Amino acid sequence: MEKEFENRIVTTKKTEYDVEHDNNLRPKTFDEYVGQEEIKKRMKIFIHSAKERGEPLDHVLLYGAPGLGKTTLAGVIANELGVHLKITSGPAIEKPGDVAALLSGLKKNDVLFIDEIHRINKAVEEVLYPAMEDFALDIIIGKGQGAKSLRLDLPPFTLIGATTRTGLLSSPLRDRFGMLNRLEMYNDDELVEIIKRSARILNVSIKNEGAMEIAKRSRKTPRIANRFLKRIRDYAQYVKAEEIDRQVTLKALNLLSVDKNGLDKSDIHILEIIIKSFDGGPVGLDTIAAMVGEESDTLVDVYEPYLLQLGFINRTPRGRVATRLAYEYLGIPFEKKEDM
Ligand SMILES: Nc1ncnc2c1ncn2[C@@H]1O[C@H](COP(=O)(O)OP(=O)(O)OP(=O)(O)O)[C@@H](O)[C@H]1O
Ligand SMILES: [Mg+2]
Repeated sequence: MEKEFENRIVTTKKTEYDVEHDNNLRPKTFDEYVGQEEIKKRMKIFIHSAKERGEPLDHVLLYGAPGLGKTTLAGVIANELGVHLKITSGPAIEKPGDVAALLSGLKKNDVLFIDEIHRINKAVEEVLYPAMEDFALDIIIGKGQGAKSLRLDLPPFTLIGATTRTGLLSSPLRDRFGMLNRLEMYNDDELVEIIKRSARILNVSIKNEGAMEIAKRSRKTPRIANRFLKRIRDYAQYVKAEEIDRQVTLKALNLLSVDKNGLDKSDIHILEIIIKSFDGGPVGLDTIAAMVGEESDTLVDVYEPYLLQLGFINRTPRGRVATRLAYEYLGIPFEKKEDM
Protein backbone atom coordinates (compact mmCIF):
# COMPACT_ATOMS: atom_id res chain seq x y z
CA MET A 1 0.00 0.00 0.00
CA GLU A 2 2.70 2.47 0.94
CA LYS A 3 4.29 2.45 -2.48
CA GLU A 4 0.92 3.19 -3.98
CA PHE A 5 0.54 6.25 -1.80
CA GLU A 6 3.88 7.61 -2.90
CA ASN A 7 3.38 7.17 -6.61
CA ARG A 8 -0.18 8.27 -7.05
CA ILE A 9 -0.91 10.25 -10.18
CA VAL A 10 -3.42 12.40 -8.28
CA THR A 11 -1.07 13.58 -5.58
CA THR A 12 -1.20 17.35 -5.21
CA LYS A 13 2.38 17.23 -3.97
CA LYS A 14 5.08 18.33 -6.33
CA THR A 15 6.98 15.36 -7.73
CA GLU A 16 10.44 15.34 -9.30
CA TYR A 17 8.79 14.95 -12.66
CA ASP A 18 6.75 18.10 -12.10
CA VAL A 19 9.83 20.07 -11.14
CA GLU A 20 11.57 19.18 -14.36
CA HIS A 21 8.65 19.72 -16.66
CA ASP A 22 6.60 22.47 -15.05
CA ASN A 23 8.57 25.51 -15.95
CA ASN A 24 7.24 26.26 -19.39
CA LEU A 25 3.64 25.76 -18.23
CA ARG A 26 3.88 28.33 -15.47
CA PRO A 27 2.01 31.54 -16.27
CA LYS A 28 4.17 34.65 -16.04
CA THR A 29 1.54 37.40 -16.08
CA PHE A 30 -1.84 38.03 -14.46
CA ASP A 31 -3.46 37.61 -17.86
CA GLU A 32 -2.11 34.09 -18.16
CA TYR A 33 -2.81 33.20 -14.54
CA VAL A 34 -6.28 31.66 -14.56
CA GLY A 35 -8.81 32.13 -11.75
CA GLN A 36 -8.18 33.49 -8.23
CA GLU A 37 -9.99 36.60 -9.45
CA GLU A 38 -10.27 38.33 -6.07
CA ILE A 39 -6.58 37.97 -5.38
CA LYS A 40 -5.64 39.19 -8.83
CA LYS A 41 -7.93 42.21 -8.58
CA ARG A 42 -6.41 43.25 -5.25
CA MET A 43 -2.82 42.53 -6.16
CA LYS A 44 -3.01 44.47 -9.44
CA ILE A 45 -4.00 47.60 -7.51
CA PHE A 46 -1.32 47.23 -4.85
CA ILE A 47 1.35 46.44 -7.43
CA HIS A 48 0.39 49.44 -9.53
CA SER A 49 0.60 51.80 -6.57
CA ALA A 50 3.84 50.41 -5.17
CA LYS A 51 5.45 50.72 -8.59
CA GLU A 52 4.23 54.29 -9.02
CA ARG A 53 5.75 55.25 -5.67
CA GLY A 54 8.95 53.41 -6.44
CA GLU A 55 8.55 51.46 -3.22
CA PRO A 56 8.58 47.74 -2.56
CA LEU A 57 5.25 45.96 -2.46
CA ASP A 58 4.20 45.15 1.10
CA HIS A 59 4.99 41.58 2.24
CA VAL A 60 2.54 38.96 0.98
CA LEU A 61 1.55 35.65 2.51
CA LEU A 62 0.03 33.05 0.18
CA TYR A 63 -1.68 30.04 1.63
CA GLY A 64 -3.62 27.14 0.25
CA ALA A 65 -3.41 23.44 -0.59
CA PRO A 66 -0.46 22.14 -2.64
CA GLY A 67 -0.60 22.68 -6.40
CA LEU A 68 -3.03 25.61 -6.38
CA GLY A 69 -0.45 28.03 -7.73
CA LYS A 70 1.35 29.75 -4.85
CA THR A 71 4.84 29.53 -6.34
CA THR A 72 3.45 30.49 -9.73
CA LEU A 73 1.68 33.52 -8.27
CA ALA A 74 4.87 34.68 -6.53
CA GLY A 75 6.58 34.60 -9.92
CA VAL A 76 3.72 36.51 -11.53
CA ILE A 77 3.85 39.19 -8.83
CA ALA A 78 7.60 39.69 -9.23
CA ASN A 79 7.23 39.80 -12.99
CA GLU A 80 4.39 42.32 -12.83
CA LEU A 81 6.45 44.43 -10.42
CA GLY A 82 9.31 44.26 -12.90
CA VAL A 83 11.79 43.04 -10.28
CA HIS A 84 13.91 39.95 -9.69
CA LEU A 85 12.61 36.95 -7.84
CA LYS A 86 14.81 34.97 -5.51
CA ILE A 87 13.41 31.62 -4.45
CA THR A 88 14.21 29.69 -1.30
CA SER A 89 12.35 27.59 1.22
CA GLY A 90 11.89 27.45 4.98
CA PRO A 91 13.94 24.30 5.55
CA ALA A 92 16.74 25.56 3.28
CA ILE A 93 17.45 28.57 5.52
CA GLU A 94 19.36 26.94 8.33
CA LYS A 95 20.86 29.83 10.25
CA PRO A 96 20.50 33.62 10.61
CA GLY A 97 23.59 34.09 8.46
CA ASP A 98 21.74 32.49 5.54
CA VAL A 99 19.10 35.21 5.77
CA ALA A 100 21.79 37.86 5.69
CA ALA A 101 23.33 36.30 2.59
CA LEU A 102 19.95 36.02 0.84
CA LEU A 103 18.78 39.53 1.63
CA SER A 104 21.98 41.42 1.05
CA GLY A 105 22.09 39.90 -2.44
CA LEU A 106 18.80 41.54 -3.41
CA LYS A 107 18.42 44.69 -5.48
CA LYS A 108 16.05 47.51 -4.47
CA ASN A 109 12.40 46.34 -4.38
CA ASP A 110 13.21 42.73 -5.36
CA VAL A 111 11.07 39.83 -4.18
CA LEU A 112 12.31 37.07 -1.90
CA PHE A 113 10.05 34.04 -2.03
CA ILE A 114 10.16 31.66 0.92
CA ASP A 115 8.27 28.45 0.23
CA GLU A 116 7.07 26.37 3.20
CA ILE A 117 7.66 29.37 5.39
CA HIS A 118 6.05 27.56 8.35
CA ARG A 119 9.16 25.39 8.48
CA ILE A 120 11.74 28.09 9.24
CA ASN A 121 13.40 27.72 12.60
CA LYS A 122 13.02 30.12 15.51
CA ALA A 123 16.47 31.74 15.21
CA VAL A 124 15.88 32.49 11.54
CA GLU A 125 12.40 33.76 12.25
CA GLU A 126 13.78 36.28 14.71
CA VAL A 127 16.18 37.87 12.24
CA LEU A 128 13.34 38.09 9.75
CA TYR A 129 11.31 40.40 12.01
CA PRO A 130 13.59 43.49 11.77
CA ALA A 131 14.33 42.59 8.16
CA MET A 132 10.64 42.71 7.29
CA GLU A 133 9.81 45.75 9.41
CA ASP A 134 12.80 48.03 9.04
CA PHE A 135 14.83 46.48 6.20
CA ALA A 136 17.64 45.91 8.64
CA LEU A 137 19.49 43.01 10.17
CA ASP A 138 20.79 42.91 13.71
CA ILE A 139 23.99 40.95 13.64
CA ILE A 140 25.69 39.75 16.80
CA ILE A 141 29.45 39.75 16.55
CA GLY A 142 31.56 37.83 19.01
CA LYS A 143 30.45 35.74 21.96
CA GLY A 144 29.71 36.15 25.66
CA GLN A 145 30.54 39.46 27.36
CA GLY A 146 32.37 40.99 24.44
CA ALA A 147 29.49 40.37 22.00
CA LYS A 148 28.30 43.39 20.08
CA SER A 149 25.17 43.98 18.08
CA LEU A 150 25.53 45.62 14.72
CA ARG A 151 22.71 46.96 12.59
CA LEU A 152 23.05 46.31 8.88
CA ASP A 153 20.84 48.15 6.40
CA LEU A 154 19.23 46.15 3.64
CA PRO A 155 17.77 47.16 0.32
CA PRO A 156 13.97 47.53 0.57
CA PHE A 157 12.39 44.27 -0.55
CA THR A 158 9.17 42.28 -0.60
CA LEU A 159 8.92 38.97 1.17
CA ILE A 160 6.40 36.55 -0.29
CA GLY A 161 5.82 33.58 1.98
CA ALA A 162 3.93 30.45 1.00
CA THR A 163 2.42 27.86 3.28
CA THR A 164 -0.19 25.15 3.04
CA ARG A 165 -1.70 26.17 6.38
CA THR A 166 -1.51 29.56 8.09
CA GLY A 167 -2.24 27.88 11.39
CA LEU A 168 1.33 26.58 11.37
CA LEU A 169 2.78 30.09 11.34
CA SER A 170 3.59 31.89 14.59
CA SER A 171 1.36 34.91 15.02
CA PRO A 172 4.24 37.46 15.22
CA LEU A 173 5.40 36.28 11.82
CA ARG A 174 1.92 36.21 10.35
CA ASP A 175 1.27 39.75 11.60
CA ARG A 176 4.24 41.09 9.68
CA PHE A 177 2.65 40.34 6.35
CA GLY A 178 0.65 43.24 4.92
CA MET A 179 -1.47 40.96 2.75
CA LEU A 180 -2.82 37.52 3.38
CA ASN A 181 -4.13 35.72 0.33
CA ARG A 182 -5.88 32.41 0.49
CA LEU A 183 -5.84 30.49 -2.79
CA GLU A 184 -9.11 28.77 -3.63
CA MET A 185 -9.69 25.52 -5.44
CA TYR A 186 -10.48 25.90 -9.14
CA ASN A 187 -13.80 25.23 -10.82
CA ASP A 188 -14.11 23.06 -13.94
CA ASP A 189 -14.26 25.98 -16.36
CA GLU A 190 -11.07 27.46 -14.96
CA LEU A 191 -9.35 24.10 -15.18
CA VAL A 192 -10.50 23.71 -18.80
CA GLU A 193 -8.88 27.06 -19.55
CA ILE A 194 -5.65 25.97 -17.86
CA ILE A 195 -5.66 22.64 -19.71
CA LYS A 196 -6.23 24.28 -23.08
CA ARG A 197 -3.47 26.78 -22.45
CA SER A 198 -1.07 24.00 -21.44
CA ALA A 199 -2.08 21.97 -24.52
CA ARG A 200 -1.19 24.95 -26.71
CA ILE A 201 2.21 25.21 -25.08
CA LEU A 202 2.78 21.44 -25.36
CA ASN A 203 1.64 21.62 -28.96
CA VAL A 204 -1.16 19.04 -28.80
CA SER A 205 -4.69 19.62 -29.98
CA ILE A 206 -7.44 18.94 -27.51
CA LYS A 207 -11.20 19.13 -27.82
CA ASN A 208 -13.36 20.97 -25.31
CA GLU A 209 -14.97 17.70 -24.22
CA GLY A 210 -11.56 16.15 -23.61
CA ALA A 211 -10.45 19.11 -21.52
CA MET A 212 -13.69 18.94 -19.53
CA GLU A 213 -13.19 15.25 -18.71
CA ILE A 214 -9.68 16.00 -17.47
CA ALA A 215 -10.92 18.97 -15.46
CA LYS A 216 -13.54 16.88 -13.64
CA ARG A 217 -10.89 14.49 -12.40
CA SER A 218 -8.24 17.03 -11.50
CA ARG A 219 -9.31 17.51 -7.89
CA LYS A 220 -9.76 21.23 -8.53
CA THR A 221 -5.98 21.53 -8.76
CA PRO A 222 -3.98 22.89 -11.74
CA ARG A 223 -0.93 20.77 -10.97
CA ILE A 224 -2.99 17.60 -11.37
CA ALA A 225 -4.72 18.89 -14.51
CA ASN A 226 -1.33 19.50 -16.14
CA ARG A 227 -0.03 16.13 -15.04
CA PHE A 228 -3.06 14.35 -16.51
CA LEU A 229 -2.74 16.27 -19.74
CA LYS A 230 0.84 15.10 -20.16
CA ARG A 231 -0.05 11.46 -19.54
CA ILE A 232 -2.98 11.67 -21.93
CA ARG A 233 -0.73 13.22 -24.53
CA ASP A 234 1.57 10.19 -24.20
CA TYR A 235 -1.40 7.90 -24.65
CA ALA A 236 -2.70 9.81 -27.68
CA GLN A 237 0.71 9.61 -29.29
CA TYR A 238 0.90 5.87 -28.60
CA VAL A 239 -2.47 5.13 -30.19
CA LYS A 240 -1.73 7.63 -32.97
CA ALA A 241 -4.74 9.78 -32.19
CA GLU A 242 -4.69 13.13 -33.95
CA GLU A 243 -6.31 14.99 -31.14
CA ILE A 244 -7.36 14.49 -27.57
CA ASP A 245 -11.11 13.95 -27.69
CA ARG A 246 -13.45 12.48 -25.11
CA GLN A 247 -12.73 8.87 -26.10
CA VAL A 248 -8.96 9.20 -25.90
CA THR A 249 -9.23 11.02 -22.60
CA LEU A 250 -11.48 8.42 -21.01
CA LYS A 251 -9.34 5.52 -22.16
CA ALA A 252 -6.16 7.15 -20.92
CA LEU A 253 -7.71 8.08 -17.59
CA ASN A 254 -8.93 4.54 -17.19
CA LEU A 255 -5.37 3.37 -17.55
CA LEU A 256 -4.38 5.71 -14.72
CA SER A 257 -6.93 4.22 -12.30
CA VAL A 258 -8.66 7.42 -11.33
CA ASP A 259 -12.40 7.40 -10.95
CA LYS A 260 -14.90 9.94 -12.26
CA ASN A 261 -14.21 12.33 -9.39
CA GLY A 262 -10.46 11.98 -9.56
CA LEU A 263 -10.31 9.68 -6.56
CA ASP A 264 -7.75 6.90 -6.59
CA LYS A 265 -7.29 3.79 -4.47
CA SER A 266 -5.66 5.70 -1.65
CA ASP A 267 -8.63 8.03 -1.19
CA ILE A 268 -11.03 5.12 -1.28
CA HIS A 269 -8.81 3.32 1.24
CA ILE A 270 -9.03 6.27 3.64
CA LEU A 271 -12.82 6.40 3.34
CA GLU A 272 -13.02 2.65 3.86
CA ILE A 273 -10.90 2.83 6.99
CA ILE A 274 -13.21 5.43 8.52
CA ILE A 275 -16.37 3.62 7.46
CA LYS A 276 -15.48 -0.05 7.82
CA SER A 277 -12.91 -0.07 10.62
CA PHE A 278 -14.38 2.75 12.70
CA ASP A 279 -18.04 2.61 11.85
CA GLY A 280 -17.92 6.00 10.14
CA GLY A 281 -15.88 7.71 12.86
CA PRO A 282 -15.04 9.86 14.62
CA VAL A 283 -11.52 8.53 14.34
CA GLY A 284 -8.33 10.41 15.16
CA LEU A 285 -6.12 11.74 12.40
CA ASP A 286 -3.07 9.92 13.74
CA THR A 287 -4.89 6.61 13.71
CA ILE A 288 -5.85 6.99 10.06
CA ALA A 289 -2.33 8.11 9.21
CA ALA A 290 -0.83 5.07 10.89
CA MET A 291 -3.21 2.74 9.09
CA VAL A 292 -2.40 4.12 5.64
CA GLY A 293 1.30 4.51 6.38
CA GLU A 294 1.44 8.26 5.85
CA GLU A 295 2.49 11.25 7.93
CA SER A 296 -0.42 13.06 9.58
CA ASP A 297 0.69 16.29 7.89
CA THR A 298 0.53 14.68 4.47
CA LEU A 299 -2.95 13.46 5.22
CA VAL A 300 -4.05 16.96 6.17
CA ASP A 301 -2.31 18.75 3.28
CA VAL A 302 -2.64 16.31 0.43
CA TYR A 303 -5.59 13.98 1.00
CA GLU A 304 -8.08 15.81 3.14
CA PRO A 305 -8.60 19.08 1.24
CA TYR A 306 -10.29 17.32 -1.65
CA LEU A 307 -12.26 14.83 0.46
CA LEU A 308 -13.52 17.78 2.52
CA GLN A 309 -14.32 19.70 -0.63
CA LEU A 310 -16.39 16.80 -1.96
CA GLY A 311 -18.18 16.65 1.38
CA PHE A 312 -17.09 13.06 1.96
CA ILE A 313 -15.52 13.69 5.34
CA ASN A 314 -15.95 16.16 8.17
CA ARG A 315 -13.51 17.30 10.80
CA THR A 316 -14.88 17.21 14.32
CA PRO A 317 -13.13 17.87 17.62
CA ARG A 318 -13.13 14.12 18.26
CA GLY A 319 -11.73 13.17 14.87
CA ARG A 320 -12.72 12.57 11.27
CA VAL A 321 -16.14 11.30 10.29
CA ALA A 322 -17.37 9.93 6.99
CA THR A 323 -20.53 11.61 5.71
CA ARG A 324 -23.61 10.06 4.16
CA LEU A 325 -22.24 11.11 0.75
CA ALA A 326 -19.15 8.98 1.30
CA TYR A 327 -21.28 5.96 2.21
CA GLU A 328 -23.35 6.46 -0.91
CA TYR A 329 -20.26 6.87 -3.04
CA LEU A 330 -18.90 3.55 -1.83
CA GLY A 331 -22.32 1.92 -2.02
CA ILE A 332 -22.43 1.16 1.69
CA PRO A 333 -25.80 1.55 3.49
CA PHE A 334 -25.80 4.54 5.84
CA GLU A 335 -27.43 4.08 9.22
CA LYS A 336 -28.14 7.31 10.98
CA LYS A 337 -25.57 8.11 13.60
CA GLU A 338 -26.46 10.09 16.71
CA ASP A 339 -23.66 12.61 16.51
CA MET A 340 -23.74 13.48 12.84
N1 LIG B 1 -3.75 30.02 -11.85
C1 LIG B 1 -3.07 29.20 -12.66
N2 LIG B 1 -3.21 29.27 -13.98
C2 LIG B 1 -2.54 28.43 -14.79
N3 LIG B 1 -1.69 27.45 -14.35
C3 LIG B 1 -1.53 27.33 -13.03
C4 LIG B 1 -2.19 28.19 -12.12
N4 LIG B 1 -1.84 27.83 -10.87
C5 LIG B 1 -1.00 26.81 -11.00
N5 LIG B 1 -0.79 26.49 -12.29
C6 LIG B 1 0.02 25.37 -12.78
O1 LIG B 1 0.07 24.38 -11.76
C7 LIG B 1 1.41 24.07 -11.41
C8 LIG B 1 1.53 24.00 -9.90
O2 LIG B 1 1.46 25.30 -9.35
P1 LIG B 1 2.47 25.79 -8.20
O3 LIG B 1 3.76 25.06 -8.28
O4 LIG B 1 2.52 27.27 -8.29
O5 LIG B 1 1.66 25.35 -6.92
P2 LIG B 1 1.98 25.61 -5.38
O6 LIG B 1 0.74 26.17 -4.78
O7 LIG B 1 3.22 26.42 -5.27
O8 LIG B 1 2.22 24.16 -4.80
P3 LIG B 1 3.12 23.69 -3.51
O9 LIG B 1 2.30 23.99 -2.29
O10 LIG B 1 3.30 22.21 -3.70
O11 LIG B 1 4.41 24.44 -3.57
C9 LIG B 1 2.27 25.15 -12.05
O12 LIG B 1 3.41 24.60 -12.64
C10 LIG B 1 1.42 25.79 -13.11
O13 LIG B 1 1.76 25.27 -14.36
MG1 LIG C 1 5.11 25.85 -4.57
